[in-house]
Amino acid sequence: MLVSPSLLSADFSNLSKDIEMINSSGADYLHLDIMDGVFVPNISFGFPVIESVSKICNKPLDVHLMIVEPQKWIDRVKTTGAEIMNVHLEACLHLDRTINAIKDAGMKAGVTLNPATPVSLLVDIIEELDLVLLMSVNPGFGGQSFIKNTLKKVKELKKLRDNSGSKAIIEVDGGVNEETGKLLAEEGADMLVAGNYVFKSENPLKRIEILKNI
Ligand code: DX5
Ligand code: ZN
Repeated sequence: MLVSPSLLSADFSNLSKDIEMINSSGADYLHLDIMDGVFVPNISFGFPVIESVSKICNKPLDVHLMIVEPQKWIDRVKTTGAEIMNVHLEACLHLDRTINAIKDAGMKAGVTLNPATPVSLLVDIIEELDLVLLMSVNPGFGGQSFIKNTLKKVKELKKLRDNSGSKAIIEVDGGVNEETGKLLAEEGADMLVAGNYVFKSENPLKRIEILKNI
């Protein structure tokens, strides 16, 4: 299982300590949640923080933009050194154009779906995607409970992906822990984001290892 711990639940007064932990862990990516207070009812952190984190983190960055008009920020995200740029389908009027622009900028392109957005809306874009991020909570906050309907969506997405020949990674974000992670793996998830489960633990390295071995 690919694992992408979410920095949103880290200790913002001592980020370098948490990044050192991530560097020494088996995590595959570091997940960064950008919120604008418009697309979601919260504001997190922005580009100066991503840039500082990027300098000291030896894992590739998985950037999740919870913002309106994400297409305006493609070049800016690229300059942070991000490997994956995730945009919400609900925030993109011209999704195909945005996905192509992300790839032209040299990043992996991911589309994120809110819990109430059906997987079937990806049918005409799935072949172009490097990744699909399914939200298993309503975006905006860490520490929420897993929405079980996501399991059905993972299964449906796997079918859509495999039938289309797409190689898109299936990533899931929100309320992930050992139990929900196992259920997601059974349905075909390839990559798990975990905030509270990792960073609010006494032993975050162990928690990352547990998710890795699911
Ligand atoms: C929520 C964010 C998540 C969040 C997950 O809007 O997209 O990445 O950090 O946190 P947990 O794992 O605590 O639900
Ligand atoms: Zn996220």
